[in-house]
Amino acid sequence: MNLPNRQATEYNDTVVRQFAIMTVIWGVVGMLVGVFIASELIWPDINMGIPWLSYGRLRPLHTNAVIFAFGGSGLFAASYYVVQRTSQVRLFGDKLAAFTFWGWQAVIVAAAISLPLGYTQGKEYAEVEWPIDILITLVWLAYAVVFFGTVGTRKVRHIYVANWFFGAYIIAIALLHVVNSAAIPAGFMKSYSAYSGVQDAMVQWWYGHNAVGFLLTAGFLGMMYYFIPKQAERPIYSYRLSIVHFWALIFTYMWAGPHHLHYTALPDWAQSVGMVFSLILLAPSWGGMINGIMTLSGAWHKLRDDPILRFLIVSLSFYGMSTFEGPMMSIKTVNALSHYTDWGIGHVHSGAMGWVGLVTMGSMYYLIPRVFGRRQMYSVKAIELHFWIATVGIVAYISAMWIAGVMQGLMWRAVNPDGTLTYTFVEGVKATYPFYVLRMLGGLLYLSGMLVMLWNTFKTVAAGRSVNVTIPAAAAHA
Ligand code: HEM
Ligand code: HEM
Repeated sequence: MNLPNRQATEYNDTVVRQFAIMTVIWGVVGMLVGVFIASELIWPDINMGIPWLSYGRLRPLHTNAVIFAFGGSGLFAASYYVVQRTSQVRLFGDKLAAFTFWGWQAVIVAAAISLPLGYTQGKEYAEVEWPIDILITLVWLAYAVVFFGTVGTRKVRHIYVANWFFGAYIIAIALLHVVNSAAIPAGFMKSYSAYSGVQDAMVQWWYGHNAVGFLLTAGFLGMMYYFIPKQAERPIYSYRLSIVHFWALIFTYMWAGPHHLHYTALPDWAQSVGMVFSLILLAPSWGGMINGIMTLSGAWHKLRDDPILRFLIVSLSFYGMSTFEGPMMSIKTVNALSHYTDWGIGHVHSGAMGWVGLVTMGSMYYLIPRVFGRRQMYSVKAIELHFWIATVGIVAYISAMWIAGVMQGLMWRAVNPDGTLTYTFVEGVKATYPFYVLRMLGGLLYLSGMLVMLWNTFKTVAAGRSVNVTIPAAAAHA
């Protein structure tokens, strides 16, 4: 009967539990589709002539599932967990928080049905049609109200830096989504972009690059700033650096989009702006990486026997690698070699599997037992196993793509003394074949790791219980 009072003194972890479980489930689904499309590039016949299984329809299903279903659910779970603990207050609006969970799952299911059926706006990472876009907007608005409502009612004066990153990601994604998805409906599940020609391309890559910058980077940096210090039991290396990191990163990312449109109809000066800002971006990116890794200074030994910390720290190494590679690829002369090749796919997956994947897995391994009333996951050995198979899988995937990409770039530009091309296109495809097999095997390893995580999660949940953690009393009165 005194439930409302009790609730006010407890964190709302129901929604955290729901999103955390779905992160693991969608991770398996998205990666399974990844392995399937990687196999289609080796054995095209495995689609059995069924249009729903064709590469063109399943590729956007893979990208949407891993980015928005796996990554998105992970970000919801982590941001809701972190904002309550660092604000020492219950999540703002129980019903609204529940709406974000069910609404987001509805978006994912609608995408998973409509993309294989062939409904698409043809905009990368924004393929879903206008009715689903409207639902995304509503869920995102609710997310903003829940998150900023919680920050606004916090019981501690200070806003911890992780919340700055989560806040920036929530605002930026709202802006990007609404501007990029502006379209004129032409019937149910059919629309035309509000922009045309090169403007459409520029809006699309302003969106695309900032989806990388704010969703795949800033959101996950929010995770990094909370879970690394927690798991390492040390304060963040430099709070000052984290503030510089934040402002430098969010200012610079917004301008780098044109590096996706080098050598196109986009004015040359705009391409150069994109290149210069991409080069500058190396500094804040590495500042953040250093801040995370150096948090371990004096406690490096913890890496030896803590597999969760290993997930978190190795994710930062991949973050450093991909944010070094990205600025290099944005240099026009380098891009002339890398663009259209599998080098780009290697870069994407060192960021996506290495950084986004590992930091999410590490954070979920920290958070899941705590919201299910256990001290740790059911099997720590299984976390260790997951770490190794995932890491070997990533290395196999990205090195195969790097070699294939550079080889393709060199083969396409090779010319004979008489000016004719040295290689036909199909010779390039043939030479790539073994690397596609290696990439698929790497992906299979990564997927196997995720299946181990699924098993471990179910065991943890089965042996645990849904606890509602009490907000520390002293803090609640602070
Ligand atoms: C300093 C940071 C980064 C810079 C400057 C950068 C730069 C670039 C460049 C130049 C390309 C190739 C564009 C092309 O030739 O089409 C690219 C592609 C891409 N990058 Fe990055 N990158 C950075 C970090 C990251 C990270 C951390 C991730 C993932 C978590 C990522 C995800 C992607 C994706 C998904 C694409 C492919 C886009 C597409 O064509 O579909 N990037 N990036
Ligand atoms: C089992 C692991 C995975 C496998 C086997 C896999 C496989 C693939 C394949 C075959 C493609 C298409 C490449 C092409 O068109 O040439 C692709 C694209 C992509 N994947 Fe994955 N993937 C995996 C994990 C992930 C994860 C965890 C993420 C993100 C968190 C991710 C994000 C992407 C993105 C953004 C693209 C589009 C890249 C672009 O357009 O440049 N993938 N993946």
